[in-house]
Amino acid sequence: MKALVLYYSQTGNTKKVAEEIQRGIRRSVPGCELKTIQEADPESLEDYDLIGLGSPVWMGGETPNVRRFLDQVPKQEGKHLFSFNTHGVMPEHFFPSLVRRLAAKGFTVIGTRDWYGAVHFQLAPKPYFTDGHPDSVDLAEAEAFGREMVERSVRIASGEAELIPAPPEHSYTAQLHVLLEFYQAGGNPHGRLKYDPEKCLYPKCRLCQDNCLMGYIDLGADPPRHGSEGNGCNMWMGCTFCELICPTGAISGPWEEIAAAMARGENPGVVLGYNPLAKAAEGAIASGRLRPLVPGEEVGSKGPYFKAYGKRPRFRVREKK
Ligand SMILES: Cc1cc2nc3c(=O)[nH]c(=O)nc-3n(C[C@H](O)[C@H](O)[C@H](O)COP(=O)(O)O)c2cc1C
Ligand code: SF4
Ligand code: SF4
Repeated sequence: MKALVLYYSQTGNTKKVAEEIQRGIRRSVPGCELKTIQEADPESLEDYDLIGLGSPVWMGGETPNVRRFLDQVPKQEGKHLFSFNTHGVMPEHFFPSLVRRLAAKGFTVIGTRDWYGAVHFQLAPKPYFTDGHPDSVDLAEAEAFGREMVERSVRIASGEAELIPAPPEHSYTAQLHVLLEFYQAGGNPHGRLKYDPEKCLYPKCRLCQDNCLMGYIDLGADPPRHGSEGNGCNMWMGCTFCELICPTGAISGPWEEIAAAMARGENPGVVLGYNPLAKAAEGAIASGRLRPLVPGEEVGSKGPYFKAYGKRPRFRVREKK
């Protein structure tokens, strides 16, 4: 058997899980490879018998570079694939849609698994409900999941088709309200980034360009290009990573303004009338799904991320993502 674990990870959570899944697979498939979505060629999936596909949950789904990659993958004929993700407190729409899309592409989806992950997002409360994840318990689960997926793939290949799980059902949850509110409000409030060439260190610094998951930044172009639209990123999923990692503040966002609107009960929260994140975290803890590593009274005690990490860069990248 030839196996590949393929993933995108912006802030490192999904990477940690992917590495442990690879370790689990390698117990029976020593040559199992690990690649980022940026390194992999969509045409090359033909070379493998079993594929693991991992992504963070963004706005309920996979990240846009993972989606773009899948769009480029040729039609399959039943190749075994399992999917995994890491997320904050609202993961529930990820697998119901992704599994169906993968099946439509011709993959046989043999398993899914999710883990909580720390959140690095300018408007997230700090500390966040899921900070500290994935921890050693999560990573041991990831290793076991890798082993299980190989065993399941072998059994399905030898005729035990009943081991193929049914696609998870869509559910009506608070996240759906949150997503609807984003759309109804005319888009994602996080997408209003600005680029100030006066503060930019390019070409000495290339961090944002090297780490933009969509390749939307080209500061060597004339005029320099930052973002999906002109010189601002209006990406609906709300990626703001370049702002998070810029060491000088050349990329900035209107966080004060958005935080003030949120405090007044404006988007998001108009329809729900309660804090959807806190509610989702409460439910996840009560059901035993989330093992909180941050005491409840500490959540948000440092304020929103952009204040807790006011100094630039807000998040330090060690390597190209
Ligand atoms: C743009 C963006 C959107 C996100 N949307 C969601 C979401 O809809 N639901 C959720 O539970 N977590 C969401 N998160 C949190 C991430 O899924 C979580 O931090 C994940 O573990 C990050 O993985 P990584 O470290 O591999 O990049 C979002 C994070 C970002 C940056
Ligand atoms: S917000 Fe920045 S890093 Fe994210 S996709 Fe847009 S330009 Fe790229
Ligand atoms: S990260 Fe900031 S300083 Fe560095 S190239 Fe990008 S905009 Fe310029």
